[in-house]
Formats: sequence, structure tokens, C-alpha cells
Amino acid sequence: MFVVKKGRQLNQQILSMRLERVAAQVPAGARLADIGSDHGYLPVALMHRGAITAAVAGEVALTPFHAAERSVHENGLEQRISVRLANGLAAIEPADGITAISICGMGGETIRDILDSGKARLSGQERLILQPNGGEQPLRQWLMENDYRILCEELLRENRFDYEIIVAERAGPVMYTAEELYFGPLQMQARSPAFLAKWQRLLHQKQQTLAHLARARQAVPEEKVRDISRQARWITRLLA
Ligand SMILES: C[S@@+](CC[C@H](N)C(=O)[O-])C[C@H]1O[C@@H](n2cnc3c(N)ncnc32)[C@H](O)[C@@H]1O
Repeated sequence: MFVVKKGRQLNQQILSMRLERVAAQVPAGARLADIGSDHGYLPVALMHRGAITAAVAGEVALTPFHAAERSVHENGLEQRISVRLANGLAAIEPADGITAISICGMGGETIRDILDSGKARLSGQERLILQPNGGEQPLRQWLMENDYRILCEELLRENRFDYEIIVAERAGPVMYTAEELYFGPLQMQARSPAFLAKWQRLLHQKQQTLAHLARARQAVPEEKVRDISRQARWITRLLA
């Protein structure tokens, strides 16, 4: 029994490469709210490393909520990490004095909706560390419309999936072009090998989709074809 528990504790301190890159964006000494925490691995690992001073692990679903409670209990961190069953930012109270919020491993639209419906709970002083699985464009749009400047963007590939990490802070009005919202303003400048490889793959996919639609026997909405063609043009220009 002891061996099993020890093994689990160790697992909870070893993060996937994706969560490790998210962890690197959490400021030292932060009071972190990890929304959609699932097993609570991120706050548990950061607390073990002494990288944060307090944390809230928020979960909307009962099974992951219990999993987070178990991780926190097994690591003896009940005094430092508060696990709460709540929808989105409803997990945060003003008294928590949260300085960083991580929302990871969900679609960009879901992250956007969590931020939008919980706006009243944001003080504007928190750093947002977001790791969307797709839907980055609408998420960046929300950030821009709510005066958040993107401070850092990272792209990594793990288990054949591309993951993006977007770090933002509220800093007053900011304007991004439609293409910057699509590709990521900082990634567009940096043009890392991982970024270019991702868009090569996506260009290939879009070209295949367009060829498939051109051969389709049933009528295809013109709007859809126009939209994919525009994206393919943008990507071709980016890679040129
Ligand atoms: C795929 S898991 C990601 C877990 C962890 N954040 C990670 O990146 O490894 C997504 C989690 O978000 C939770 N979730 C989805 N919508 C939520 C919401 N509105 N509020 C809180 N949690 C939510 C789900 O229950 C699920 O446990």
C-alpha cells in the first residue's frame, strides 16, 4: 500500500512535456487558480517544487474533482491547495488573491467561454496561461477585445499533437490583424521550425479538403469554400 501511494505521489510530480511548458509560465510565488484541473497534477507539482505559494484547483465534473482531491490528499497539500467543484472561474473568490490562472487541455472556444462568463471574477492583475486544443483564433480574439496583450506564445508537439500555449496579461487596448489572430502574433514573427511544420501540415490538409469539395457531388456552401480558400492563401503567404 505504501509503495503504491509513493508511486502515485511520484507520478503527480512528473508532468507531461505540455504541462511542463505551462508550468514554466507560472510566475514564481504565484497564487494559482488551475481551472479544469482534472487530477490536479499542475498545482500539486508546482507546490512540491516550491514554485507557488497557494492554489485553487477548480473542476466542474465530479470524477475529476474527486481525482484532484485524492492527489492533494496523497501529497499532504490540503492546507495549500483548495479543490473546488465549480463551473469555470466561479471556483475563485476575491479572498484567494489569485495572481495567475491556468486553463489547459480544452478547446479554445471553451476557454474563451469560461473567461467571458467569469469576467466579473477577474481583477485584471492575473496572468493568464492558456493551453487550448484548437480554437486558438477565437480565444485570441477574446483576449484582444478584452485588452489582454499576448506576452508569450509557444508551440510544441507531443504524441503527434500540436499544442499551443498562450500567455496574456491585461495591459490596455491592443490591436491584432486577422492574420495575427489566426497564426498568433508572436509566432508569426518568430517562425520557429515547429510553427512552420505545423502550418505546412495544415496547408496540405486544407488543399486536400478543397480538392475533395471541388469533386463533391452535392452542393457545398460557397461560404465554406471561400473560408477555406482564404485560409489556404494566408498559409501559402506565410510559408512563402
Ligand atoms: C482534458 S482535461 C485537462 C486537464 C488538465 N487541465 C490538463 O491540461 O491536463 C479538461 C478538464 O476540464 C474540465 N472542465 C471543462 N469545462 C470546465 C469548466 N467550465 N469549469 C471547470 N472545469 C471544466 C473537465 O471536467 C476536464 O476535467
